[in-house]
Amino acid sequence: MKDKRPSNLLAIYQTTWTAINHSLTFRLSAQRAHNALIAVLRRLDKSPAALRLARRLHASAFDPGPVAVGGTQLSHPLMLAAGLVKGDGFPDEPSAMQAAVDPGRNIIPGWRIIPALAGPVEFGSFTRHPRMGNEEPVVWRHTKSRSTQNRIGLKNPGARAAAAFLARHKDRLPAEYGINIAASPGVSDAKTGAREVVESLEFFLDAGIIPSWFTLNLSCPNTEDDPLNLQLEDETGRYCSAFIDCLGSRAIAAPLWVKISPGLSQSQYHALIRVFKAVGVAAVIATNTLPKPSPADPAQIAGVGGGELFAPALDAIKHLRSAALELHYDGDLIACGGILDGASWKAYRDLGVKAGQYWSALVYRGPLAAALIESEVAQHELEYEAVHRQSLA
Ligand SMILES: Cc1cc2nc3c(=O)[nH]c(=O)nc-3n(C[C@H](O)[C@H](O)[C@H](O)COP(=O)(O)O)c2cc1C
Repeated sequence: MKDKRPSNLLAIYQTTWTAINHSLTFRLSAQRAHNALIAVLRRLDKSPAALRLARRLHASAFDPGPVAVGGTQLSHPLMLAAGLVKGDGFPDEPSAMQAAVDPGRNIIPGWRIIPALAGPVEFGSFTRHPRMGNEEPVVWRHTKSRSTQNRIGLKNPGARAAAAFLARHKDRLPAEYGINIAASPGVSDAKTGAREVVESLEFFLDAGIIPSWFTLNLSCPNTEDDPLNLQLEDETGRYCSAFIDCLGSRAIAAPLWVKISPGLSQSQYHALIRVFKAVGVAAVIATNTLPKPSPADPAQIAGVGGGELFAPALDAIKHLRSAALELHYDGDLIACGGILDGASWKAYRDLGVKAGQYWSALVYRGPLAAALIESEVAQHELEYEAVHRQSLA
């Protein structure tokens, strides 16, 4: 049997990352650290030496762990969630398009280096129109509970420019990645909203960008909209069927996943599963961040992820799982919320979840967080097996 103890590399990595956090990152405000990270990613994407090193680190840190989930095949069960590799904000489409085709500009920082290090990554969210996002500060840390909080507000270059940029680099895109498309903030009727989401999708398809999966984000709590209005049965049904019809009309095999909120009622999760079954959604990502008052202005909402989201996201998975069993929904549930270590990931796995997404773990445990978390679960299983063997002896 393969020894699954964390390799020396992972042990050294873990010590180094903790030291970097305590001596550097945590001395900066979360906003400054976030902005510095984006600036570093922008440079690393174009450094062949950094990319080579990232690929070697990835190969040494991760044990093979292929998993078939949500209509696609992943090399590892843990993906980086949407929100890091999402691109710059722009005030309008012409300026975003100009930047997207400028050979000197990298408008989606991290698009090369992050997948090389971390494996499967969800790019986005991208919206139909570019957005500047909310005024900074928009990211915070709550280190005691290993949580993050943000009110970025879907800052991104817009789907047309994102697609043009990725198309310019088509031969260097990662082997596995997702594209997350968010519903347009400020659009209250579902017919227009669904049309805009399909237009976003078409920009990618027209540019020949076919990811391993598409995600439809109906649950961003950080804009002028209340995402709960999108997660009603009729509205969700309209968005999802428009998306799936568009994929079907072009015979695109990439599956649709949908990302939903924590804290919905059991009956609402039940209704959503009924819709996902009816229209053919391949997986549900549960959940997006938890709406809480913003540290900058308590009258506004800023979504919380990490440790504080773990319990509500786990509850959402439990509700969805019981609805899926009752309604014979054969799509997958993808956990997202407080996956920070082996114990939290194992809690989801014990509910039958095959794949998960993380964001806050990237802050607290760095770009090889997934390798650490997966190795902690493997270590736990080894210890359990040893105790079990002893008790049988
Ligand atoms: C700074 C930041 C930006 C985010 N942006 C997005 C986004 O654009 N789209 C999206 O679907 N989720 C976004 N999220 C939510 C994460 O993808 C994830 O659902 C959430 O953080 C819960 O995971 P965690 O508990 O591992 O942090 C963002 C999260 C953070 C912290």
